[in-house]
Amino acid sequence: MYTEKVLEHFFQPKNVGRIENADGVGTVGDPSCGDYLRLSIKVEQERIADIRFEVYGCPAAIATSSIFTEMVKGKRLEEALNVSDVDIVEFLGGLPDPKIHCSNLGALALRRAIEDYQLRRVPQGMH
Ligand code: FES
Repeated sequence: MYTEKVLEHFFQPKNVGRIENADGVGTVGDPSCGDYLRLSIKVEQERIADIRFEVYGCPAAIATSSIFTEMVKGKRLEEALNVSDVDIVEFLGGLPDPKIHCSNLGALALRRAIEDYQLRRVPQGMH
């Protein structure tokens, strides 16, 4: 039921873990299934220099988070924000219908991580 690419990223996920002293952190949970994703990013010259994820979730959530981190790593922030759940599913060669929603976590968590990064850059006292 899963494509080979999905299984590959499920069994050997890339970029697992958390970045100490991250520049931004974003979390997202899906209340319908209880899955949860935490992304941490390092930003250099407005590019995603490094990205790590921790996920509590199903095989599709693990695989989509892994491929998502690979797809956005090295990209400029605004380009990274354009990577959508549809791109992820396409890249993986499809997901079973009930698992399509699992691909939503990555883009949403990244949006939050980038917002967090931008907020941290606001000079103290201006919050
Ligand atoms: Fe909810 Fe996979 S079943 S993210």
